[in-house]
Amino acid sequence: MTRVARRLPASAAPAALVVAAAFACACGGDGTASSHVDSGESTGSGSTDASGSSSTADDSGGDDAAAARVRYCGDAAEQVEARIDDALASLSTADKVAMMHGASLSVQDGAWRVEGNAALGLPGFKMLDGPRGVGSGSGETATVFPVAIMRGASWDPELEREVGAAIGREIRSVGADTLLAPTLNILRHPRWGRAQESYGEDTVHIGAMGVAFIEGAQSERVIATAKHFAANSIEDTRFVVDVGIDERTLREIYLPHFFRAVHDANVGAVMSAYNQVNGQYCDVNAVLLREILGEDWQFQGFVMSDWLKGTHGDVEAVRAGLDVEMPRGMHFSKLADAVADGELDEAELDESLRGTLRAQLCFELDSDPAVPDAAARETEAHLELAERVAERGMVLLRNEGVLPLDRAAIGEIVVAGPLADLPNIGDEGSSAVEPAEVVTALEGIVDRAGAVTITPLAAGLPTPADEAIIAAADVVVVVLGLTKDDEGEGVIAAGDRSSLAVPAAQLELLAAITAIGTPTVVVLEGGGPLLTAGWIEDTDAVLMAWYPGLRGGYAIADILFGDAEPSGRLPASVPVAEADLPEFDNVSESVAYGYLHGYRHLDANGTAAAFPFGYGLGYTTFSYDAIALDTDELEQGGSFTASIEITNTGSRTGIETVQLYVAVPDSSFVRAPRDLRAFGQLELAPGASGTLDLTVAARDLAVWDEHADGWVIEPTTYTVQVGSSSATLPLTASFTAQP
Ligand code: BGC
Repeated sequence: MTRVARRLPASAAPAALVVAAAFACACGGDGTASSHVDSGESTGSGSTDASGSSSTADDSGGDDAAAARVRYCGDAAEQVEARIDDALASLSTADKVAMMHGASLSVQDGAWRVEGNAALGLPGFKMLDGPRGVGSGSGETATVFPVAIMRGASWDPELEREVGAAIGREIRSVGADTLLAPTLNILRHPRWGRAQESYGEDTVHIGAMGVAFIEGAQSERVIATAKHFAANSIEDTRFVVDVGIDERTLREIYLPHFFRAVHDANVGAVMSAYNQVNGQYCDVNAVLLREILGEDWQFQGFVMSDWLKGTHGDVEAVRAGLDVEMPRGMHFSKLADAVADGELDEAELDESLRGTLRAQLCFELDSDPAVPDAAARETEAHLELAERVAERGMVLLRNEGVLPLDRAAIGEIVVAGPLADLPNIGDEGSSAVEPAEVVTALEGIVDRAGAVTITPLAAGLPTPADEAIIAAADVVVVVLGLTKDDEGEGVIAAGDRSSLAVPAAQLELLAAITAIGTPTVVVLEGGGPLLTAGWIEDTDAVLMAWYPGLRGGYAIADILFGDAEPSGRLPASVPVAEADLPEFDNVSESVAYGYLHGYRHLDANGTAAAFPFGYGLGYTTFSYDAIALDTDELEQGGSFTASIEITNTGSRTGIETVQLYVAVPDSSFVRAPRDLRAFGQLELAPGASGTLDLTVAARDLAVWDEHADGWVIEPTTYTVQVGSSSATLPLTASFTAQP
């Protein structure tokens, strides 16, 4: 077994992704992906030498503090440090402390404020949520994008970059400069009330999507915030729960996507979580904030607390690595006295404030302040993007041939279900966004129906008259699932889900409808997986539509009528039963997070999912034809590239998400049977074949060895498994890692 140095030189710089190809790893690492098309039509111009890459590798990415500052700030780094030195030399202790906490409990003029210092030209911050658009706290309407889990289902980081940029533009258009997003917590269990804010259950996938969002937002000159650091995935006990977690699990499963946010995307800010990790609240958790984020990763921005119940100390918090208390100075207003009493050194205060000022100046909040501009919100381009993303995130779970609906062959569609005409855009907690209008599923279907008659059904179980209408129709579309009343943020909204089941009354309605015998299509909404066993067999098709944003109704209709191709793939496993997943304990004040969850847990137990991670149908089909590795012996510090050939074997153009997993059958560590290590997409015309290159760095195969206190790459055989989901992996190849 080879121990990998914890600080390796940084290598690849971020590069543009072309047709697809996202990549990440358990701990950072080189990665590239590219694609080319052998025949037929495809996206791109037939041949691309695309490259997407992520960075190294170990916990710091090889940076020392100076290099990390250049990475964070660019060419202005030195100048900014000099300005910070000058500011710190002339600010009084009281002035400094005023810049280390929020200014008031509630938003002022549409944002949460952190004071600056006008005399020194230091701007402070204007902060606003959030993860699916401009937070409703702004008092303004804004574009509501599909929730993050639906965007995760697109498996398309380039699309997510566009969403990040659009939200960034809208955030600036309300005069704010700091975006309280993305939520980078892993979906450990789908009953988590904020499942919808997560990209899904896998760290590599979250890392790729999160990096893209942050880069998009920050390209519009707002500071993005990676939240909530760390292990935050229960709502009902979020203010108290102590998450017990071993270091290997923390480093390999719960943190790598945060590392990528810091190292690959240069995220401006990090928000500490409400919960405790291993007996310490996150805002006073020196292991998380100072050691891992500060020392190992060399994060150069600032750490803010989560709101109100998110702080537990003053001097202790500063020493642990918390820089800004939000939304006001409950604890931090005492810091000036602590300095006066000799309890805290002025130098410690300065060190903390340094990251805060660096963020303000490196992001040029002083010279390029956000200017309110109503015309920049809900623009046609943003509405179109929201619709396109919704189309790309829909996951077709079942299709017995009824979809796509053929307008030429269908006379009448009945639309039923309690969510059919409900604006259903997600949680009412901090991620809430207020749009000018929402297109419901029914409105979308009516709009796109052409000459087909659309007959909406009144709420409640079908009456005999309704039954006759359904019997006479060609198809019935039933819109079911969850709403903001079923799941959301803890305390201020609905909290955790009480079950993974579709509400019983809805299943009763569905049973009454399917008994009639008219082909039945279910559109399922909600922020995460719902159980399908026991009812899905009676349906003809099921489309997972999540919370699809303000134009979601159009996207639903476009998929149903086949005007758009279903290309979404599940970013989280749908189990047969809740008992198949690790326990979800949102009652105890202390819980243990094990190494396995999601597909890794199901695979380890040999339990089949109802619908596995990565799964999704299209209206076309793909064959996986060949895999070739560029090496069968991987050197430490090297990388391998898998070239994967697939063919569109159906009759429509479609996008395939190619997933690369790695298994280590002879490992001396406890491992999941396989871990996602890379993915990418190819869009191919009927009959066309294409080759996608996915590159994985040796470093991405490392495990955290608690005894060695570092990453190790086992010199053993690694099996590469490639396919369309974690359970369908027809292509395999293997290589050996060198000692
Ligand atoms: C949430 C954060 C949010 C903050 C401000 C907290 O309750 O956990 O995600 O950014 O409120 O709205």
